[in-house]
Amino acid sequence: MTITINGKATEVLDALVEMNLLLFLREELRLTGAKIGCGKGFCGTCTILIDNKPVKSCQKKVLDVADKWITTIEGMAEPDGTLHPLQQAFIDAGAIQCGYCTPGMVLIGHAFLLKNPSPSRNDIRKAISPNLCRCTGYQQIIDAVEAAVGCYK
Ligand code: FES
Ligand code: FES
Repeated sequence: MTITINGKATEVLDALVEMNLLLFLREELRLTGAKIGCGKGFCGTCTILIDNKPVKSCQKKVLDVADKWITTIEGMAEPDGTLHPLQQAFIDAGAIQCGYCTPGMVLIGHAFLLKNPSPSRNDIRKAISPNLCRCTGYQQIIDAVEAAVGCYK
């Protein structure tokens, strides 16, 4: 089967199709931006986008994403390394403390802004609520998403 990750078609060996998707990304493809947290679907550190929708990859098998379009945090920056405006907004807003939740927060924020280019602050707060920040830097994370709104219009 084939999956498309960050715009690149990737063939998956039959022996790996039943593998947990988060572990497949991290261990087979060395895409380590999605983090291992609770492993139970609660924390969102493993968030990736599947067809531009946020998904907790710890809850999926590789098989579940056959023929889907996957975006991981590694796919957000330009090929020359220029950060996506939302990534830059996280830096500018001081929204990164230990950074463990950051890839998932950027991706859930990105998916939300793609669908809702004119959100209220409260809309943003609700949108990121499935993801947890154990450093509790929520205000700055909301600031960052709010600051990037103009880039999605
Ligand atoms: S590691 Fe996937 S939701 Fe926590
Ligand atoms: S910045 Fe540490 S968990 Fe969010």
